[in-house]
Amino acid sequence: MQALNCYIYNDVSVSTGIIEAREWLDECMSDKQVKSLLLTVFAELAQNIIKYANRGKILLECTKFEGKDCVMICSKDNGPGIEKIEDALSENFSTSGTLGLGLPGIKRIMDEFQIESELGVGTVVRTFRYL
Ligand SMILES: Nc1ncnc2c1ncn2[C@@H]1O[C@H](COP(=O)(O)OP(=O)(O)OP(=O)(O)O)[C@@H](O)[C@H]1O
Ligand SMILES: [Mg+2]
Repeated sequence: MQALNCYIYNDVSVSTGIIEAREWLDECMSDKQVKSLLLTVFAELAQNIIKYANRGKILLECTKFEGKDCVMICSKDNGPGIEKIEDALSENFSTSGTLGLGLPGIKRIMDEFQIESELGVGTVVRTFRYL
Protein backbone atom coordinates (compact mmCIF):
# COMPACT_ATOMS: atom_id res chain seq x y z
CA MET A 1 0.00 0.00 0.00
CA GLN A 2 1.20 3.48 -0.85
CA ALA A 3 2.39 5.68 1.99
CA LEU A 4 0.37 8.76 3.00
CA ASN A 5 2.13 12.08 3.43
CA CYS A 6 0.21 14.84 5.25
CA TYR A 7 1.43 18.40 5.42
CA ILE A 8 0.49 20.07 8.68
CA TYR A 9 0.50 23.88 8.77
CA ASN A 10 -2.77 25.06 10.34
CA ASP A 11 -5.90 23.77 12.11
CA VAL A 12 -7.69 22.98 8.85
CA SER A 13 -4.74 20.93 7.62
CA VAL A 14 -4.85 18.97 10.91
CA SER A 15 -8.56 18.15 10.37
CA THR A 16 -7.97 17.24 6.72
CA GLY A 17 -5.00 15.11 7.75
CA ILE A 18 -7.12 13.20 10.29
CA ILE A 19 -9.76 12.48 7.60
CA GLU A 20 -7.09 11.29 5.15
CA ALA A 21 -5.40 9.21 7.84
CA ARG A 22 -8.74 7.56 8.72
CA GLU A 23 -9.36 6.64 5.07
CA TRP A 24 -5.82 5.33 4.74
CA LEU A 25 -6.14 3.20 7.91
CA ASP A 26 -9.49 1.82 6.66
CA GLU A 27 -7.61 0.40 3.67
CA CYS A 28 -4.88 -1.02 5.81
CA MET A 29 -6.65 -2.71 8.76
CA SER A 30 -10.05 -3.67 10.13
CA ASP A 31 -9.60 -3.41 13.92
CA LYS A 32 -11.61 -0.32 14.89
CA GLN A 33 -10.00 0.08 18.29
CA VAL A 34 -6.45 0.06 16.90
CA LYS A 35 -7.50 2.48 14.17
CA SER A 36 -8.83 4.97 16.67
CA LEU A 37 -5.67 4.68 18.77
CA LEU A 38 -3.55 5.35 15.68
CA LEU A 39 -5.71 8.35 14.81
CA THR A 40 -5.14 9.66 18.33
CA VAL A 41 -1.39 9.36 17.75
CA PHE A 42 -1.71 11.18 14.42
CA ALA A 43 -3.78 13.98 16.01
CA GLU A 44 -1.37 14.39 18.91
CA LEU A 45 1.71 14.58 16.67
CA ALA A 46 -0.12 17.07 14.44
CA GLN A 47 -1.06 19.24 17.44
CA ASN A 48 2.55 19.24 18.60
CA ILE A 49 3.70 20.34 15.14
CA ILE A 50 1.22 23.24 15.15
CA LYS A 51 1.98 24.26 18.74
CA TYR A 52 5.76 24.05 18.69
CA ALA A 53 7.01 24.06 15.11
CA ASN A 54 4.23 25.84 13.10
CA ARG A 55 4.58 23.42 10.22
CA GLY A 56 5.76 19.94 9.42
CA LYS A 57 4.61 16.66 7.96
CA ILE A 58 3.34 13.28 9.07
CA LEU A 59 3.99 10.11 7.11
CA LEU A 60 1.91 6.93 7.44
CA GLU A 61 3.39 3.80 5.99
CA CYS A 62 2.82 0.05 6.06
CA THR A 63 6.28 -1.31 6.62
CA LYS A 64 8.30 -3.84 8.59
CA PHE A 65 10.07 -3.31 11.89
CA GLU A 66 12.48 -6.06 12.92
CA GLY A 67 10.89 -8.31 10.32
CA LYS A 68 7.31 -7.82 11.53
CA ASP A 69 4.49 -6.08 9.62
CA CYS A 70 3.51 -2.78 11.14
CA VAL A 71 2.17 0.70 10.59
CA MET A 72 4.68 3.50 10.97
CA ILE A 73 3.56 7.01 11.91
CA CYS A 74 6.40 9.48 11.58
CA SER A 75 6.27 13.24 12.16
CA LYS A 76 9.00 15.60 11.03
CA ASP A 77 9.42 19.30 11.52
CA ASN A 78 12.08 21.96 11.31
CA GLY A 79 10.93 23.72 14.45
CA PRO A 80 12.97 24.76 17.49
CA GLY A 81 13.72 21.20 18.65
CA ILE A 82 13.39 19.79 22.16
CA GLU A 83 15.87 20.82 24.80
CA LYS A 84 15.59 17.79 27.09
CA ILE A 85 13.98 14.77 25.49
CA GLU A 86 13.79 12.95 28.82
CA ASP A 87 11.62 15.77 30.23
CA ALA A 88 9.43 15.89 27.14
CA LEU A 89 8.69 12.17 27.50
CA SER A 90 7.69 12.37 31.15
CA GLU A 91 4.06 12.78 32.14
CA ASN A 92 2.83 16.28 32.93
CA PHE A 93 5.87 18.05 31.45
CA SER A 94 4.72 20.83 29.14
CA THR A 95 6.30 24.04 27.93
CA SER A 96 2.90 25.32 26.79
CA GLY A 97 0.95 24.93 30.02
CA THR A 98 -1.14 21.98 28.81
CA LEU A 99 -1.35 18.48 30.29
CA GLY A 100 1.94 17.19 28.97
CA LEU A 101 0.43 13.81 28.20
CA GLY A 102 0.86 13.74 24.41
CA LEU A 103 4.27 12.14 23.91
CA PRO A 104 4.03 9.78 26.95
CA GLY A 105 0.59 8.70 25.67
CA ILE A 106 1.97 8.03 22.17
CA LYS A 107 4.77 5.99 23.72
CA ARG A 108 2.22 3.85 25.55
CA ILE A 109 -0.02 3.30 22.51
CA MET A 110 2.74 2.39 20.09
CA ASP A 111 4.96 -0.71 20.17
CA GLU A 112 8.14 1.13 19.17
CA PHE A 113 8.95 4.78 19.74
CA GLN A 114 11.97 6.76 18.52
CA ILE A 115 12.56 10.47 18.85
CA GLU A 116 15.39 12.58 17.49
CA SER A 117 15.57 16.28 18.12
CA GLU A 118 18.20 18.92 17.68
CA LEU A 119 17.89 22.48 18.92
CA GLY A 120 17.39 24.88 16.02
CA VAL A 121 17.11 22.01 13.54
CA GLY A 122 13.89 20.18 14.33
CA THR A 123 12.23 17.04 15.62
CA VAL A 124 11.49 13.60 14.20
CA VAL A 125 9.17 11.24 16.04
CA ARG A 126 9.06 7.77 14.49
CA THR A 127 6.60 5.26 15.93
CA PHE A 128 5.51 1.73 15.00
CA ARG A 129 2.49 -0.39 15.85
CA TYR A 130 2.58 -4.07 14.94
CA LEU A 131 -0.35 -5.33 12.89
N1 LIG B 1 7.48 18.91 17.56
C1 LIG B 1 7.98 19.47 18.67
N2 LIG B 1 8.90 20.47 18.58
C2 LIG B 1 9.41 21.06 19.70
N3 LIG B 1 9.05 20.72 20.95
C3 LIG B 1 8.14 19.74 21.10
C4 LIG B 1 7.55 19.07 19.99
N4 LIG B 1 6.69 18.14 20.45
C5 LIG B 1 6.74 18.22 21.79
N5 LIG B 1 7.61 19.18 22.19
C6 LIG B 1 7.99 19.51 23.59
O1 LIG B 1 7.73 18.39 24.42
C7 LIG B 1 6.82 18.75 25.45
C8 LIG B 1 5.93 17.56 25.76
O2 LIG B 1 5.07 17.30 24.65
P1 LIG B 1 3.66 16.59 24.90
O3 LIG B 1 2.96 16.44 23.62
O4 LIG B 1 3.91 15.37 25.73
O5 LIG B 1 2.90 17.62 25.86
P2 LIG B 1 2.21 19.02 25.50
O6 LIG B 1 2.08 19.18 24.01
O7 LIG B 1 2.95 20.07 26.22
O8 LIG B 1 0.79 18.85 26.18
P3 LIG B 1 -0.43 17.98 25.64
O9 LIG B 1 0.07 17.17 24.48
O10 LIG B 1 -0.83 17.10 26.79
O11 LIG B 1 -1.47 18.97 25.26
C9 LIG B 1 6.10 19.97 24.94
O12 LIG B 1 5.58 20.76 25.97
C10 LIG B 1 7.21 20.68 24.15
O13 LIG B 1 8.04 21.40 25.00
MG1 LIG C 1 1.30 17.56 22.87
